[in-house]
Amino acid sequence: MSTDGLKFSSLGGSIVEGDSLPMDSEPEIISLRPKKLCQYIGQNKTIETLKIGIDAAQQRNEILDHVLLHGPPGLGKTTLAHIISNEIGGKLVVTSGPALEKGGDLIGMLTQLETGDVLFIDEIHRLSRSVEELLYPAMEDFCIDFVFDKGMHARSHRFRLKQFVLVGATTRVGLLSSPLRHRFGIFRSLDFYSNKDLETIINRSAALLNQSIDGEGAAELAMRSRGTPRIANRLLKRVRDYAQVKSDGHIDKDAVVEALDLEGIDNLGLTPLDRQYLDTIITYYNGGPVGIEAVAATLQEETDTLVDVVEPFLLKTGLVVRTSSGRRASEAAFVHMGFGKG
Ligand code: ADE
Repeated sequence: MSTDGLKFSSLGGSIVEGDSLPMDSEPEIISLRPKKLCQYIGQNKTIETLKIGIDAAQQRNEILDHVLLHGPPGLGKTTLAHIISNEIGGKLVVTSGPALEKGGDLIGMLTQLETGDVLFIDEIHRLSRSVEELLYPAMEDFCIDFVFDKGMHARSHRFRLKQFVLVGATTRVGLLSSPLRHRFGIFRSLDFYSNKDLETIINRSAALLNQSIDGEGAAELAMRSRGTPRIANRLLKRVRDYAQVKSDGHIDKDAVVEALDLEGIDNLGLTPLDRQYLDTIITYYNGGPVGIEAVAATLQEETDTLVDVVEPFLLKTGLVVRTSSGRRASEAAFVHMGFGKG
């Protein structure tokens, strides 16, 4: 088992993490995450589903069903895995599809789980076939089958596991095999947050950081956060720095506008990469339709980054439409990018 990079943290119970930490795992950003379901803002139906599932399992003295969370980056999939482990009182073990290269990597993690622990597999759509097949009996019957020898001498031995909860997260549910998808009892898709929910999250984070912010400042920051709490919290820190150095430290609308203009974040929350993507479709491909591979090649970007990170918000806001012949920039995108009517 490749446990070299494992890390123990005392945040909200016992957590075991592998791999390098993503950008939102800076300690200060982690401390802004809600620790309990009752602190969670937005995603009301998902929160209700989880509350009911957890309460029902506790009343029956059973273990919660496995949970699959789907949605673009930054909407709270990892946060919810932490919350689930806090709510059910188990240890959280964190890993990801690409980190589980061999069957042994997964077996090492599964065998260290105690009853009621939570195994979080991020990017679960990137599990190799052999690791995925080991997961089936582990999820269904809480056991792993070891096979010794090959051919007619092959023998297998069943190893019993403790009853654990698997929380899987994916940005691409379509890439998950159907046997894997069907082994999750709870499946929820997270959607982008409303500006109102983001405002509430920003006010909560500002209070935790002891930062003063007024209503207009919070509203402007919410509008520029791409419907994503992770972005809201990251931008709040940038604006806090700006207000501290350039004025009296208080965050108002002007501070947000000036700080985020400096970061290249526009009034819809689009980043420089979002705008390059739109500009490519509009100016290189006459507004489309154009295939994603062609856009990626022109931008010299990974197709996966465009599909997972850039496109979901542009599709949600109607700036881009996907047709059978490729991506098209909408009239609103032409206007926003300063090209008048499309
Ligand atoms: N911080 C990040 N996401 C949050 C959420 N959904 N609710 C409260 N605080 C958050």
